Amino acid sequence: MAANAAALLAAIVESSDDAIVSTDLEGRIRSWNPGAERMYGYTAEEVIGRHVTILAPPDRPDEIPGILRRLGRGERVAHFETVRIARSGGPIEVSISASPMRDGDGRLVGQSSISHDITERRAASRRLHESQSLLQGLFDAAPEGIIGVDEDGTILFANPATEQLFGYPAAELVGRPVEVLVPEAARGVHAAQRAGFVSRPRQRLNGAGLGLAGRRKDGSTFAADIALGHFAVASGMVVLAFVRDVTRARAAEEQLRKVSEARRLLLSRLVTSQEDERRRIAVEIHDDPVQKLSALSLRLDVLARHHPELAGSGDYAALGQTLRASIDSLRALMFELRPHALDERGLAAALRELLQAEGEFEVFPEHHLEDQLETEPRGEVGTTLYRLAEEAVRNVRKHANASHVDLVLAEGEGGYLLRVADDGVGFAADGRARSPNGHLGLTGMQERAQIAGGWCRIDTELGQGTTVEFFIPADLAGPTS
Ligand SMILES: Nc1ncnc2c1ncn2[C@@H]1O[C@H](COP(=O)(O)OP(=O)(O)OP(=O)(O)O)[C@@H](O)[C@H]1O
Ligand SMILES: [Mg+2]
Repeated sequence: MAANAAALLAAIVESSDDAIVSTDLEGRIRSWNPGAERMYGYTAEEVIGRHVTILAPPDRPDEIPGILRRLGRGERVAHFETVRIARSGGPIEVSISASPMRDGDGRLVGQSSISHDITERRAASRRLHESQSLLQGLFDAAPEGIIGVDEDGTILFANPATEQLFGYPAAELVGRPVEVLVPEAARGVHAAQRAGFVSRPRQRLNGAGLGLAGRRKDGSTFAADIALGHFAVASGMVVLAFVRDVTRARAAEEQLRKVSEARRLLLSRLVTSQEDERRRIAVEIHDDPVQKLSALSLRLDVLARHHPELAGSGDYAALGQTLRASIDSLRALMFELRPHALDERGLAAALRELLQAEGEFEVFPEHHLEDQLETEPRGEVGTTLYRLAEEAVRNVRKHANASHVDLVLAEGEGGYLLRVADDGVGFAADGRARSPNGHLGLTGMQERAQIAGGWCRIDTELGQGTTVEFFIPADLAGPTS
């Protein structure tokens, strides 16, 4: 029986991964298992009889003698973590348990130890520690407030930036409902939204457009951008709020909004007053000189009936012709000042009339207008589009020497698009098309489109034709129109 137990024990020692070593009272090695061979790199033959201090690191000369003294007094050593030096000279981190050995009469004869290699475990725990301190550093140094909240809205943690934002020391926030950081008026809605988030969590990268605010400890509030994230822990979900004070950004936005509003208003007034003036002059021309010249023409007819000899004369014919030509050019001027159709029948109709009027010049190319509009551009928007198209179409007539010109009117993305494409000679636009000195067409078009909050693109190449495109937002005139 005893022999069996001894054999079993020997088998355990043989097969153990741990280093199992026994020494005599002085510390000379008496047994050295395969685990010790693997761990320290020495074979049993090499070390039996040598002193166990061969494993001692040079910077700890007193450690092994101390342990031996304790064992000599009959004490045990449990899970003592230290470093040993392998045959290769490399350090091995170990956890050592050692106990005294006695003979059959109970006399101390030596000691035995079991050493477990904890290098890997130590390295893992160092890595863990490092990543923990990295995370902690991130948390402490983050310029944004980071607040963790549980599913019920109770604050679990808050970083130092939170204190600067809200005036609460982080420790004071833990355990309190997150609504203490929300302005009173928004608390009810916030709690409901929070519950909604917990039931359907999703990342919110940016809360800038939501008009959110935070409430400080002193009751004052600030404009906040709050992004949200979440992660799972054993007890449920942690919702993360990343908070930034955007008071200044929001004030700048507001300022910008006001400026562009003012600009639109100004443009709207400019367009309106210009067009009003043109309309007034057109009406005046119609009511006064055109009426008078028409009456004159009628009288001339009557005169001719009463004096047939006059009617046959060359002077009379020339007079009539001059008169009709004057009326025609006044009508053309009226049309140019303010196309009637724009007010009466809308943009597409006015553009058709424009094309037709231009077509009365001999050199005007074949033209086509594709009208995809579903709504009629309001007031100044229509006028602006018309004036831009007018310049583009006149340029085609004057410069392009094209055989076709195609107009497209389309709608979308909050505005109207107009394209005028010809297959004429094109021109060298060197990056940005500009008007030559003393000419305002292209430059004026681009400026006009920009002021209206839209854009104008000119795409042209010598011999390849020219395409001019504008986009004008539908709400150009702003809330006053
Ligand atoms: N569709 C086109 N085809 C060919 N050349 C063009 C076309 N549109 C413009 N250009 C060229 O670009 C130049 C600048 O055009 P812009 O409209 O600025 O001036 P303009 O038409 O000459 O004068 P203004 O418009 O002031 O009466 C033109 O002189 C012409 O050379
Ligand atoms: Mg021009």
